[in-house]
Amino acid sequence: MSEYHIPVMPTECMDALDVKQGKLYFDGTLGGGGHTSEILKRGGRVIATDRDMEAIDYSRMRLSQISDYNGRYTLVKDNFKNVSDVLKSHEIDSLDGAILDLGISSHQVDENLRGFSYSGDGLLDMRMDRDQYLSAMTVVNEYTEDELSRIIYTYGEERFARRIAKKICEIRVGSPIETTKQLSDIVKSCVPESKHGNPAKKTFQAIRIEVNNELSGLGEAVCDIVEALKPGARIAVITFHSLEDRIVKQTFKTLATDCICDKSLPVCICNHKASVKIIGKYKPSTSEQTANSRSKSATLRVAEKLNRA
Ligand SMILES: C[S@@+](CC[C@H](N)C(=O)[O-])C[C@H]1O[C@@H](n2cnc3c(N)ncnc32)[C@H](O)[C@@H]1O
Repeated sequence: MSEYHIPVMPTECMDALDVKQGKLYFDGTLGGGGHTSEILKRGGRVIATDRDMEAIDYSRMRLSQISDYNGRYTLVKDNFKNVSDVLKSHEIDSLDGAILDLGISSHQVDENLRGFSYSGDGLLDMRMDRDQYLSAMTVVNEYTEDELSRIIYTYGEERFARRIAKKICEIRVGSPIETTKQLSDIVKSCVPESKHGNPAKKTFQAIRIEVNNELSGLGEAVCDIVEALKPGARIAVITFHSLEDRIVKQTFKTLATDCICDKSLPVCICNHKASVKIIGKYKPSTSEQTANSRSKSATLRVAEKLNRA
């Protein structure tokens, strides 16, 4: 098991995908290579993306140590939202299954230098892709009070968003807010103590989602992946908070529905045909939740490409 990241629901995911020898799977969120390793262990082949070069380098090193895996995986530094281009540039027409394990890896959180952690201390950063310009430092120091308030409220579902945004803007007048500890202390000074974990969690989640543009295009990416699946092949998506889970749930529901016209219309004008059937929704077992507390908020959703699609 990797110390970089413990894969969530690995057995449930492999069972859902029904991984078979020689078949090709897309792992859009490689991370520490936990799910990719499980696929390779079962004889599958993998094309994987991650937008974080550190994840690609780590997994390449990890996978290269097992000679049996040689020649069965391709790792690409890219956003899974570009799945169609990635498959095309590798001359891949169709997939036998796909997995997305959304969010950030334990390594990204635990490494203070990456600036994601509300409990550690490091320069505010939060970029999964360190080649991109926008970082948490820019969001916290340059966004207007209204923008900050909207982001913290919408992406963090934080009811004290206005108060936090106001405080951030007051403090940064003196000198920029540069560290995760500074931001965490500001949030703590605005939010009443709670029994439900660190009060800075929601604000950090919100800023991370904004920095990495995590929600926009997620539904479209799921559709593009489904498009690439062979009939009978499955997609498994693990989410960690309600905002991304809602998008995946709604996308699966739309893909599983024949007509998506407004209910008030007397006849169908959309000609939409269902392309998947929904297989189910799963939570980690109690024993997994005890062994890996980070798995607690995970939800796995699985859908299968229809034969007629
Ligand atoms: C929860 S971890 C995945 C862990 C992995 N399944 C494992 O078992 O080791 C999420 C990973 O996906 C990456 N990621 C998140 N959103 C991405 C996106 N849109 N495109 C590519 N990679 C993404 C992150 O950089 C991170 O490395």
